[in-house]
Amino acid sequence: MSKVRLAIAGGGGRGFVYASYAKKHPDLAEVVAVAEPLEYRRNKMAKEFSIPSQNVFCDWKELASMPKLADAVIIATQDSMHVEPCLAFANKGYAILLEKPMATKEEDCKMIADVVKANNIMFAVCHVMRYTDYTQKVKSIIKSGVLGDVVSVQHLEQVGFAHQAHSFVRGSWRNQNECVFMLMAKSCHDIDWLQYIVASPIKKVSSFGNLKHFRKENKPVGAANRCLDCLCEKNCPYSAVKIYLKPAQEGNYDWQVRAIINEHTVENVMTALRNGPFGRCVYACDNDVVDHQVVAMEFDNGSTANFTMTAFCEQTDRVTRIFGTRGQLIGDGNKILHYDFLTRKTECIEIGFSDGGIDTGHGGGDYAIMREFIKAVSTKDTSSILSGIDESLNSHIAVFAAEKSRLNQNVEKVI
Ligand SMILES: NC(=O)c1ccc[n+]([C@@H]2O[C@H](COP(=O)([O-])OP(=O)(O)OC[C@H]3O[C@@H](n4cnc5c(N)ncnc54)[C@H](O)[C@@H]3O)[C@@H](O)[C@H]2O)c1
Repeated sequence: MSKVRLAIAGGGGRGFVYASYAKKHPDLAEVVAVAEPLEYRRNKMAKEFSIPSQNVFCDWKELASMPKLADAVIIATQDSMHVEPCLAFANKGYAILLEKPMATKEEDCKMIADVVKANNIMFAVCHVMRYTDYTQKVKSIIKSGVLGDVVSVQHLEQVGFAHQAHSFVRGSWRNQNECVFMLMAKSCHDIDWLQYIVASPIKKVSSFGNLKHFRKENKPVGAANRCLDCLCEKNCPYSAVKIYLKPAQEGNYDWQVRAIINEHTVENVMTALRNGPFGRCVYACDNDVVDHQVVAMEFDNGSTANFTMTAFCEQTDRVTRIFGTRGQLIGDGNKILHYDFLTRKTECIEIGFSDGGIDTGHGGGDYAIMREFIKAVSTKDTSSILSGIDESLNSHIAVFAAEKSRLNQNVEKVI
């Protein structure tokens, strides 16, 4: 395999994770360029990945205006900033790894698909869940036939109360006008995954959901607009003091704490909570995305599935029950229980994490998608890409349809 040269458009959380794969596997890939407007992040990327200064840009547009300087580009800008760079880099002939969602509007997703096909480039959407060892094991069990035909699926996404507060009440994905609706932002992975597992396109959907809890009218009497000033803070599970300040004081700079500061100090966390969006009361934010949603779907092959996304739980792995004509499977990302109707016995399969372990994120999916994408670019063989353009477009269309159903209170046709 020849070494793949990577450019990163958007050196934020995701851009950094994907670039780290190249650093870990210098024989397979090398980060040769970055575009990132925030100085701290741009410098961090340049230093961490030894990117030559002439290839360090403030904006993806500058990178795209240069003669093609890498084999592939990873587009990891925010949700509403995927379309333009994707079209520009596709027209330049770059292989593209595009963060989900493809775009925030259905017509833009279709336009991306058209341009990718017209340029005949290597392309994958970062539906990382498809690539985990766990998913591949579930797929192989289904393919082996031991479950018979898959007839129905129940799938639960446990966003978690603190994750919801961080990302979808205080953070980047809280307001649909600034990003995209919740089902697309958080659960497009799950709708895509269900389509992959059932191996049939989604035909019809219906959905319900709303913003039930994180509303102004639920603010406790006497609560302040910022947690640092709040008399009710001690009794509030969503308190920014509990999510950010206490962990930092204990030396625990987990992903949520890291997301609100650059240098890791308690003073920086205090400043962020005092002045920034993450110190706000969860009942006094400009959030409007739902905090719970259900989707019912019928697949083209007649199978059905239901999906639940909820904020009101501990953040943990998705739990899925797959019901077949000869057996059932219960999976939680780490362990699979397979019950066989013939033998009436349950087999338990423990999943190990691939390449780099749990730290690599999303059950190993972040690094696994990089491994397969790099392999595809290097060998010019698309077979390792599990999230290609047509399936990704279909699953995005299903997500848009589910949201239309939620808003219009009807059943929506997908295909
Ligand atoms: N696949 C997954 O599991 C997964 C998980 C989380 C997030 N995401 C998606 O990944 C994307 C990035 O998320 P993130 O958490 O890294 O966000 P982020 O905000 O940390 O990173 C985005 C970066 O893009 C930069 N940017 C803004 N304008 C730019 C420009 N003109 N040129 C170049 N860069 C520019 C921002 O400064 C920021 O650093 C989002 O679309 C998000 O929905 C995917």
